[in-house]
Amino acid sequence: MPGLVVVGLQWGDEGKGKVSAYLAKGASLAVRFNGGANAGHTVKLGEKSLSLHILPAATVSTKAAAIGPGVYLDIEEMLRDIEKLEAAVGKVHVVISPRAQLVTPLQVELDARIEELRGGGSIGTTRRGIGPTAINKYGRLGVRVCDLLEGEAQNIAEVWRRVWGGLTSLRVEEALEKAARLVEQVKWMVGDVSSLIHEKLSSGETVVFEGAQGTMLDIDHGTYPYVTSSHTVSAAAALGAGVGPKSIHRVVGVAKSYTTRVGAGPFPTEFTGPLADSIRERGGEYGATTGRPRRIGWLDIPQLRYACMLNDADEIFLTRLDTLASQPRVRLCVKYEGSGDSFPESVSSLRRARPVYEELDGWPEIGESERSRLLAEGYGGLPRSARQYVERIEEELGTPIRYIGIGPGIGDVIMK
Ligand code: GDP
Ligand code: IMO
Ligand code: MG
Repeated sequence: MPGLVVVGLQWGDEGKGKVSAYLAKGASLAVRFNGGANAGHTVKLGEKSLSLHILPAATVSTKAAAIGPGVYLDIEEMLRDIEKLEAAVGKVHVVISPRAQLVTPLQVELDARIEELRGGGSIGTTRRGIGPTAINKYGRLGVRVCDLLEGEAQNIAEVWRRVWGGLTSLRVEEALEKAARLVEQVKWMVGDVSSLIHEKLSSGETVVFEGAQGTMLDIDHGTYPYVTSSHTVSAAAALGAGVGPKSIHRVVGVAKSYTTRVGAGPFPTEFTGPLADSIRERGGEYGATTGRPRRIGWLDIPQLRYACMLNDADEIFLTRLDTLASQPRVRLCVKYEGSGDSFPESVSSLRRARPVYEELDGWPEIGESERSRLLAEGYGGLPRSARQYVERIEEELGTPIRYIGIGPGIGDVIMK
């Protein structure tokens, strides 16, 4: 005890990397349990920023990481992460589940081909092979780490060729050979992730489960089909890491002070124009994985209320209060016009949703000196209008906001 899960409450990029690194101080293991190299988790260490795709960002605090069976494993990306991490924080210990599904060059190519086939209806994926790896996994056509280690994937090349041959010019044997070489290179890292987590928890150590993507990108609960091909809600931590629900003792939901989304799909509170551009530039709102500009919108209470419920969020970590500063007025979507109690499930109903906004006073810029003052003074030091914004969100959601991010640094956090 305890198992702490960190999940995104919006459409990803909420700041889960920084939050997990902050909350993992004193923890002994950081776990990734879902998604793959579509994730980009950034942590700022001094003046340097580190963007990780497979390893949890919380590894900067724990120096030990585990990759659960629920992860779509891209070994090359993982090796690059290890290199970046070790250059920044020294030696890290990594354990990979033998059950993790592998992403090979075939799945990466198929991701691009399927996007092209969808034409105007493309999802805007990160092209990291996530969808095709999921198709193979659930069709029992996937290749796992242990399958290649034990030479149990001989028949799959012929099946892949027949199933996927019309879409790819790649030689599937080459894709598999490359995957096998990579697995051989990392086989010393393969271990029993589930037992490792159970051991840590039963000896009283803290384990941080670092979610990838965000609730609205969940394959079942998100804005389907504009979602990712895995589960992103807190319950996925148990399944994707190999523990039961009783190993999860606390769920921290991460939300930005506004909303962003990368890729296509409905986004009720989106706005464009000079204000969106200025928030994007101030906040460096460009994808950590693809560099694409993130779409910008106001904070969306109906969406967050749905996310808090799905995740059983115990508390919220609200990031980027500093990025939303310097606006004379800020808006908060408190409901959708004419919408019922439940969150709209179809793309067309979400596209029809008309947000009803409340306007609140903005707060001044939080610069370097202001940040130091706030870190010393805590929540009470925040301008009244910023506190009113935070408290209005809490009141609407009924979930406490326990932490507030006021800068990209791991320690740029005030507790409420
Ligand atoms: P993740 O995918 O949820 O881990 O988020 P990303 O790393 O893709 O994007 C979040 C960005 O916001 C990163 O560059 C973080 O360093 C940054 N960030 C996180 N919290 C804060 C905050 O409170 N203030 C500011 N200015 N930046 C933050
Ligand atoms: P982190 O962990 C933001 C989005 C893509 C696309 C959709 C499907 O950094 O928050 P995929 O490549 O998964 O098939 O793409 O999901 N997406 C993310 N958006 N943050 C992420 O991860 C994302 N991972 C996938 O932009 O719209
Ligand atoms: Mg990200």
